[in-house]
Amino acid sequence: MPPYSAQLYYKYVLAVLLILCASAGCGDAQLTPTFYDESCPNATTIVRGVIEEALQTDPRITASLTRLHFHDCFVNGCDGSILLDNSTNPNSTIDSEKTAVPNNNSARGFDVVDNIKTALENACIGTCPAVVSCADILAIAAEESVALSGGPSWTVLLGRRDSLTANRTAANEALPAPTFTLDELEANFLAVGLNTTDLVALSGAHTFGRARCLTFTDRLYNFSGTGSPDPTLNSTYLETLSEICPLNGNGSVLTNLDPVTPDTFDAKYFSNLQVEEGLLQSDQELFSTSGADTIDIVNNFSANQSAFFENFGESMIKMGNISPLTGTEGEIRLSCRRVNGESYGLTATLVAERDSRGSSGGGSSIAGSYGGTDLEIELVGGVVDTDPIVAHMHKVQ
Ligand code: HEM
Ligand SMILES: *[C@@H]1O[C@H](CO)[C@@H](O)[C@H](O)[C@H]1NC(C)=O
Ligand SMILES: *[C@@H]1O[C@H](CO)[C@@H](O)[C@H](O)[C@H]1NC(C)=O
Ligand SMILES: *[C@@H]1O[C@H](CO)[C@@H](O)[C@H](O)[C@H]1NC(C)=O
Ligand SMILES: *[C@@H]1O[C@H](CO)[C@@H](O)[C@H](O)[C@H]1NC(C)=O
Ligand SMILES: *[C@@H]1O[C@H](CO)[C@@H](O)[C@H](O)[C@H]1NC(C)=O
Ligand SMILES: *[C@@H]1O[C@H](CO)[C@@H](O)[C@H](O)[C@H]1NC(C)=O
Ligand SMILES: *[C@@H]1O[C@H](CO)[C@@H](O)[C@H](O)[C@H]1NC(C)=O
Ligand SMILES: *[C@@H]1O[C@H](CO)[C@@H](O)[C@H](O)[C@H]1NC(C)=O
Ligand SMILES: *[C@@H]1O[C@H](CO)[C@@H](O)[C@H](O)[C@H]1NC(C)=O
Ligand SMILES: *[C@@H]1O[C@H](CO)[C@@H](O)[C@H](O)[C@H]1NC(C)=O
Ligand SMILES: *[C@@H]1O[C@H](CO)[C@@H](O)[C@H](O)[C@H]1NC(C)=O
Repeated sequence: MPPYSAQLYYKYVLAVLLILCASAGCGDAQLTPTFYDESCPNATTIVRGVIEEALQTDPRITASLTRLHFHDCFVNGCDGSILLDNSTNPNSTIDSEKTAVPNNNSARGFDVVDNIKTALENACIGTCPAVVSCADILAIAAEESVALSGGPSWTVLLGRRDSLTANRTAANEALPAPTFTLDELEANFLAVGLNTTDLVALSGAHTFGRARCLTFTDRLYNFSGTGSPDPTLNSTYLETLSEICPLNGNGSVLTNLDPVTPDTFDAKYFSNLQVEEGLLQSDQELFSTSGADTIDIVNNFSANQSAFFENFGESMIKMGNISPLTGTEGEIRLSCRRVNGESYGLTATLVAERDSRGSSGGGSSIAGSYGGTDLEIELVGGVVDTDPIVAHMHKVQ
């Protein structure tokens, strides 16, 4: 083998991925349920398996994963931007959304997303690295999470690609606050093409998961600066919540968003609203705003769980269609936490030190860690830019 430079290998790997991407059919401009049918037919099963495993020790994980898809989609579209960590490269424009106010000490499940990514990469080894995007992982994980918690299944549209950047300011501006009024909620959803039915249906995701005291304590002690509790908060529920969240207590203490069936995806969220047991102001607004067009929808979903499930699936598909990157936009990340330029930066460094590893199969190999898994990329081919290049990824045993 000629002594390739690190820089040359960097280009080499990019070329390889482009070739593989083209043959795997990354070029569609529209989302489709069959996107991975050839390139990764078991993607959904693999995602479900990792979530089931996580559920053994974390009953909250399905809620947390569902929320990640929402917090991804509302901020510059469903592009996996919420998964990016800050870069170690000082020139990077990545400003991690993980510390935006709605996410900081709140968004969770990132380790499980990493495990899903690793499982998918392992399943594709020998055929195709970096096939399933991180944005699509969130879309599949949301659907599987809801289904595993007793809720509906729906047909997940796929083919999103991953962003090259993240924007904390945009996350602070785009995500709704729990103190929003109904008008503010409707405007916030309308800004991403979601209407009032979508708002009510998707708010039904608060049928599982937890919230911190600090997201609703104003309702218990000093609602909108009145010095009194929120009048639309059931007084029995107020007593319960005041014990969990005392005045000037620890705002990070958690409580269930749905006090009746905390980990089950059902229509109880809506019957709670009817007895003034919505936890967040933004929840109770849907039922207690006088004359609102949302009241009938709450009543409908409360009485008819199938109507809720059907609408929830439709609205999740609509949410999942918010400004996806497709075709040649963005990239398919190898690690959901960083853009490939950085993964390859790491690879290029390792190439310079690769001599001790030797080469195999007449090619050359690069070792690196992607998505928490130690991998070895074997490059088989001739001269860069002329001969075809073939790459194989091996998990290092
Ligand atoms: C309508 C506007 C919404 C507001 C204002 C809102 C606000 C919140 C807040 C404040 C929390 C608690 C976070 C914490 O204390 O750490 C929360 C949790 C949650 N939200 Fe929303 N949310 C909204 C819509 C949605 C939507 C559309 C979904 C999904 C489709 C969703 C899914 C969830 C889930 C599952 C949790 C629990 C997460 C966990 O336990 O880790 N929310 N939301
Ligand atoms: C893919 O899933 C099918 C069942 O859906 C299973 O029989 C098969 O072993 C799986 N293949 C891989 C590579 O996981
Ligand atoms: C950052 O950008 C400067 C100017 O373009 C360049 O000299 C430097 O090498 C870059 N640093 C890294 C870590 O890429
Ligand atoms: C990420 O980097 C930005 C600057 O680019 C900085 O303002 C922010 O505090 C960093 N966030 C974390 C979590 O380090
Ligand atoms: C995020 O939370 C940490 C506490 O865990 C805090 O130190 C930090 O200032 C917060 N970041 C932002 C951007 O609010
Ligand atoms: C980040 O989002 C803010 C708010 O939408 C916008 O003003 C800013 O230009 C964005 N930054 C980048 C680098 O795109
Ligand atoms: C919201 O949009 C859906 C189609 O996506 C439509 O069926 C529904 O009637 C709309 N709801 C309202 C209140 O406009
Ligand atoms: C309630 O909040 C308002 C405005 O933030 C403040 O002026 C008032 O002192 C608070 N009242 C109590 C009893 O804390
Ligand atoms: C506040 O509550 C959180 C969640 O239960 C806990 O992790 C934290 O240690 C508590 N902080 C204090 C100061 O007690
Ligand atoms: C408050 O909740 C109780 C059940 O806990 C219910 O019987 C009562 O009707 C509720 N009050 C209101 C105003 O909805
Ligand atoms: C419940 O909603 C479904 C739509 O999902 C509808 O077909 C059915 O007629 C509704 N049932 C009642 C009793 O209204
Ligand atoms: C409830 O919603 C379902 C499905 O969207 C619809 O078929 C049904 O007519 C609605 N019922 C009422 C009473 O609004």
